[in-house]
Amino acid sequence: MRVAPQSIPDVEGFVTSLVRNVPGAVYRCDVDAAFTMQLLGDEIERISGYPASDFVANARRTFDSIIHADDRERVHREIAEALAADEPYVLEYRIVTADGEVRWILDRGLRAVDAFGRECLDGIIFDVTHRRLAEEARLRSEAAAARAAELEASRARIVAAADEARRRIERDLHDGAQQRLVAASLALRVAERRLMESPESAAMMLVRARTELEAGLEELRELARGIHPAVLTDHGLADALRALAERAALPIRIECRVAGRLAPGVETALYYCATEALTNVVKHARATHARVCIEPGEGVVALEVSDDGAGGARLDGGSGLSGLEDRLAVLGGILEVKSVAGRGTVLRATVPVA
Ligand SMILES: Nc1ncnc2c1ncn2[C@@H]1O[C@H](COP(=O)(O)OP(=O)(O)O)[C@@H](O)[C@H]1O
Ligand SMILES: [Mg+2]
Repeated sequence: MRVAPQSIPDVEGFVTSLVRNVPGAVYRCDVDAAFTMQLLGDEIERISGYPASDFVANARRTFDSIIHADDRERVHREIAEALAADEPYVLEYRIVTADGEVRWILDRGLRAVDAFGRECLDGIIFDVTHRRLAEEARLRSEAAAARAAELEASRARIVAAADEARRRIERDLHDGAQQRLVAASLALRVAERRLMESPESAAMMLVRARTELEAGLEELRELARGIHPAVLTDHGLADALRALAERAALPIRIECRVAGRLAPGVETALYYCATEALTNVVKHARATHARVCIEPGEGVVALEVSDDGAGGARLDGGSGLSGLEDRLAVLGGILEVKSVAGRGTVLRATVPVA
């Protein structure tokens, strides 16, 4: 502070008008557990709903008592740290007003010495509730925007995966059943031509046509099973997993602790989690056996696939597990991986159930 040489400073009057006009509650308080106020500006009433006289010398209540219980310990600690470092403090914390409302305040202060030579705190308290609420709203809307962007990206991946699946089916049909039907049709045409002059040769061609048709039929069945196993639709998740385990290249124990059927979408998603996880076990884990467990939780159902293999599985390691994450996200579910090198892998998919 600078004072003009020719003026006679009326420090007390100056301080009084400052205390009245500053848009915050000026204070001087003891360094004690109550923050006992020696002096407190009237602005505190607008901020807290309690008159300043309530707090001065702890007449009716202590300032400490209106600090939000969750912030109290931090306020004391941060002030003590600032005093120890002989530095001013700037704190933001919550108070509970006379109406029971929670308000955010900004408290700036520093160590001072009072007229008795005792250590005290001089500071000023501002109401920053509006700014805090605006900040919180901004953070919330940013988080919502991030979630929306992630959802958008996962939709795009789902569409891409569906396109890829369709292309694969088209290739399988083209290279499999379609070739068989073409061969059968050719054999039938030859048989037709030879029917009169060479009935024996025609009969051989009919046999060939039948063989091709049977093989084509089997390939179509196989393809349909891959697209959506009939046993899943007809008998549910546990049976579909048992059928999967029977065809697998290593021993798999299936444990199902969920009675009855789940929603079709949930069953399908968990089934594909199991098939991808077990394919990974065969492809990557060098395990001796695996276990699949379906268990109910609070409002959720979880599918866990564990193996005793090499470990080292990562959600971002390929397209399989991240595809599962997307599939589960659509249902509000999550995928977790615990996989330590040399200690096997546990994959856990959790999906909410209505
Ligand atoms: N059960 C497992 N044991 C060991 N490693 C695994 C296992 N599952 C997945 N991984 C590792 O995590 C990576 C990611 O898996 P995934 O997303 O399914 O991709 P990929 O198409 O390679 O199977 C795999 O490439 C593999 O290195
Ligand atoms: Mg995989």
